[in-house]
Amino acid sequence: MASTHGAEVLVASNRGPVSYAVGEGGALRPKRGGGGLVSGLSAIGPEANAVWVCAALGEGDRAAARRADGGLLPVADTGGQRVRMLDIDADVFADAYNGIANSVLWFVHHMLYQTPLEPVFDAAFRRQWAAYEAYNRAFAEALAQEAAEGAAVLIQDYHLALAPRMLRRLRPDLRIGHFSHTPWAPAEYFRLLPDDIAAELLTGILGADRAAFLTRRWADAFTDCCHAVLGPGIPSGTRIGVHGLGADADFLRERAHRADVDERMAALRAEIGEGRRTIVRVDRTELSKNIVRGLLAYRQLLDAHPEWRERVVHVAFAYPSRQDLAVYREYTDQVRKVAEEINERYGTPGWTPVVLHVKDDFARSLAAYRLADVALVNPIRDGMNLVAKEVPVVSDEGCALVLSREAGAYAELGEDALVVNPYDVTGTAEALHAALAMPAGERAERSKRLAAAATALPPAQWFLDQLHALTAQSS
Ligand code: G6P
Repeated sequence: MASTHGAEVLVASNRGPVSYAVGEGGALRPKRGGGGLVSGLSAIGPEANAVWVCAALGEGDRAAARRADGGLLPVADTGGQRVRMLDIDADVFADAYNGIANSVLWFVHHMLYQTPLEPVFDAAFRRQWAAYEAYNRAFAEALAQEAAEGAAVLIQDYHLALAPRMLRRLRPDLRIGHFSHTPWAPAEYFRLLPDDIAAELLTGILGADRAAFLTRRWADAFTDCCHAVLGPGIPSGTRIGVHGLGADADFLRERAHRADVDERMAALRAEIGEGRRTIVRVDRTELSKNIVRGLLAYRQLLDAHPEWRERVVHVAFAYPSRQDLAVYREYTDQVRKVAEEINERYGTPGWTPVVLHVKDDFARSLAAYRLADVALVNPIRDGMNLVAKEVPVVSDEGCALVLSREAGAYAELGEDALVVNPYDVTGTAEALHAALAMPAGERAERSKRLAAAATALPPAQWFLDQLHALTAQSS
């Protein structure tokens, strides 16, 4: 097999640790991505000669991938880690990513389908599935080329459910792990998928030595699906693991006290107005995040508890996500519309009840975290939800957390949060009221305990734990 860089540790994911924008005169400007995996990978030494395989996502990435011509690109500030970007045919990529990964697998695991219109598994779906297979094969082949004998390969998420088994066939010598960052669907819901597809997804992941999840709940759901779909369940060669990714306290606390965050705090304070409480939410504009019901709960709070009018502001950041998909664009419009309706109905000359921002700005998110009296995290379902973990770590005065019981974070933060059923708008409105009314002392105490639980497994340790578990496992 051609070109090997002899990596001892490899990571594979759809979205990589760096992306490229095309600047003036065609110059490519790299931008380092965030997230637990990037910090995790930085924690391993250069001797691992690590390589991260990812898809080229935009024009800049594609240009960088072509220039690299199958070679590796550097990732700034990660101790010399390098990336191989796969320039996958644009149609294949669109069908695999938008078609299967984001419109089918994401919807299944987050239980987002709405009958009677969805789902329909027809000939068009089968064509997209063929693209998903080709996309997974491209990853498996690149990993097979880059890996040293016996190397450890950590394959990420629902985009790459078939890659572990494909890679196993190409390179039986490798240690292969798969990690799901999403929830896993209950067996009865998972079986919406055609039987052969359901079986391929499961056996794809079972091609790994270890299949790992963010919480025990998602790991158990995966095991249930294996029993329901495959009969005998988990083969003896595959172990199931749980690693609950935590917030990166050191990074967040340092980053949240830089000048750009201070500037944004001043601007936000001006928008909020003097002496008012803040209910903060920060999300991708993502159907599973349940932003609209959050706004409806806030509206009901203002109705049922008019004493909060003029005294509270809902700071809602809803950043664009997956805008190629019509259903996401429509959801973005709906979020905007409901926020405007609330402002029109309740707003006064000196008070804007909802401050909605839709342009992604990390420094402003941190500013909102610092100002938060209440954090609202109410997803329909969520693998973990790091916002729930980050706000208590960063908030200046300590915050109360209103948390959906369907977020993975609930398993670790449930005791000190105000827990809600995400569909129950009345219950969420009452939880917001209780959070706002919570005495300052109690709020600070709970917030401290939330922050401690949230940072129990920081990203670097989370990553190393997976790697050690994989390499320690006897085959
Ligand atoms: C979730 C998934 C990630 C994905 C992220 C953003 O957190 O688990 O794999 O990268 O959403 O979605 P996007 O489609 O923009 O990559």
